[in-house]
Amino acid sequence: MKIIVDTPENIAKMAAERYVTLLNKKPDAVLGLATGSTPLGLYGEIVKLYNEGKISFAEAKSFNLDEYVGLDGTHDQSYRYFMNENLFSKVDINPDETHVPGGKGDIAENAKKYEEMIAAAGGIDMQLLGLGQNGHIGFNEPGTPLASVTHEIELTANTREANARFFASIDDVPTHAISMGIKSVMNAKSIILIALGKNKAEAVAKSVKGEVDVMVPASVLQLHPDVTFYLDAEAASLL
Ligand code: F6R
Repeated sequence: MKIIVDTPENIAKMAAERYVTLLNKKPDAVLGLATGSTPLGLYGEIVKLYNEGKISFAEAKSFNLDEYVGLDGTHDQSYRYFMNENLFSKVDINPDETHVPGGKGDIAENAKKYEEMIAAAGGIDMQLLGLGQNGHIGFNEPGTPLASVTHEIELTANTREANARFFASIDDVPTHAISMGIKSVMNAKSIILIALGKNKAEAVAKSVKGEVDVMVPASVLQLHPDVTFYLDAEAASLL
């Protein structure tokens, strides 16, 4: 595991460079993407590089980590909407090659198909992760089995509270989500995790220095051969 500590601005630039390098080498790379507040700086930087003609997603495919159950892609808090707004509509990726788990209809069937689509695409080349305050990655809450693939999850009170800031009230935060599993994440060829701010420091410390423990899902990343944690000083403050 590699750990890089820098300012949020430099982290966004360094992480964006990872996409430039990957897509130069493999224009049809399969990208595992994340939502939430953490990747916004990175997506902004990628859009800037795209506008400068330094990166192209024309042949790339993407698979997002997760989606709320019950929200369709037109809901402004759905993760599909977030991705369209913050990245997909601003770069040259083929919309048909962007994938977000389906939060409507038969969730178990959506989950099964999602794994099949990732496998058919050849697996994920680079997976982007944020980090939950409780150590979750994707929506894999503490206790999610290591062998999990895309599945439906009941969100913890902690996660619903953390995400309530995006909704009118906590009652509007969905109770369930569909997420790639721990195994789906670990299958990625390389992984980049970004964590910013003091409220991530404890989860970062447990994930990096603690024992590998399913109660801290990100600690499992210690077992992956190609992981980089990009941290600001606050997120790294307990290391
Ligand atoms: C989002 C996701 C979540 C977030 C995590 C941190 O697709 O999978 O694991 O990365 O909840 O969220 P932020 O970045 O909003 O602090």
